[in-house]
Amino acid sequence: MSIEGKERVLTTRKLLSMKMKGEKIAMLTAYDYTSARIVDQAGIDIILVGDSAANVMAGHETTLPITIDQMIYHAQSVMRAVKNPLVVVDMPFGTYQGNSKMALSNAVRIMKESEADAVKVEGGSEVLESVQRILSAGIPVMGHLGLTPQSIHKFGTYSVRAKEEAEANKLLEDALALEEAGCFALVLEKIPATLGKRVAETLRIPVIGIGAGRYVDGQVLVMHDMLGLTQEFSPRFLRRYHNLQEEYLKAFHQYVEDVKSGDFPNEQEQY
Ligand code: KIV
Repeated sequence: MSIEGKERVLTTRKLLSMKMKGEKIAMLTAYDYTSARIVDQAGIDIILVGDSAANVMAGHETTLPITIDQMIYHAQSVMRAVKNPLVVVDMPFGTYQGNSKMALSNAVRIMKESEADAVKVEGGSEVLESVQRILSAGIPVMGHLGLTPQSIHKFGTYSVRAKEEAEANKLLEDALALEEAGCFALVLEKIPATLGKRVAETLRIPVIGIGAGRYVDGQVLVMHDMLGLTQEFSPRFLRRYHNLQEEYLKAFHQYVEDVKSGDFPNEQEQY
């Protein structure tokens, strides 16, 4: 994670102290070198190399098809760019569920080949054995509960999770079990704000929300969504900070026009 003279600013310990001081944690996804560099310069605390790359980079409907090799490729690109943030890599679907030894060897691959700082897994009691085995190798693990997109075929819908008491109680139990196992942080996706608050107040580790309300310890968004590159995706929790789709279109249209009209390149733009 660090070598002498090249100390990373953001560590899992620092995140814990941020929670204790009530300092909010800002997390964003990135999947490539160029955007990770800009995100780092903006002062982000955690970069998530999310398996949402399957959607926004590769155009898949769900996150399920992305492979471990593809995740490692994205993580390596991000790692070449970053200096300060903690980098967490999603373990893709099928690489940690049901077999904790396989989970460990896949987590080791991600850490060795990408040199990232931590991995993230989705689920609670069902994946606890895998989480424990990965942690036993000294690999930091971030949990992810609520709407866990790798289970979309089980849920059958992307609507808000844990609105009923039984599911909310199970979520809290899972959160406590992940903390007890040694996870350094937890992502909560698309759940009622009151439940987000309850979990954040109960746990010692930082709780980072995406559609989990304002009372958690930090927020995460998918970069392409918050930049307005995915206009068709419009959940209530998404705040768009730009309409980059429109900006891209304008620039691309202008380029096509300039090439077709012979305006580009001009005298100054040639050798
Ligand atoms: O893959 C991803 O981008 C995620 C976030 C939505 C938390 O898991």
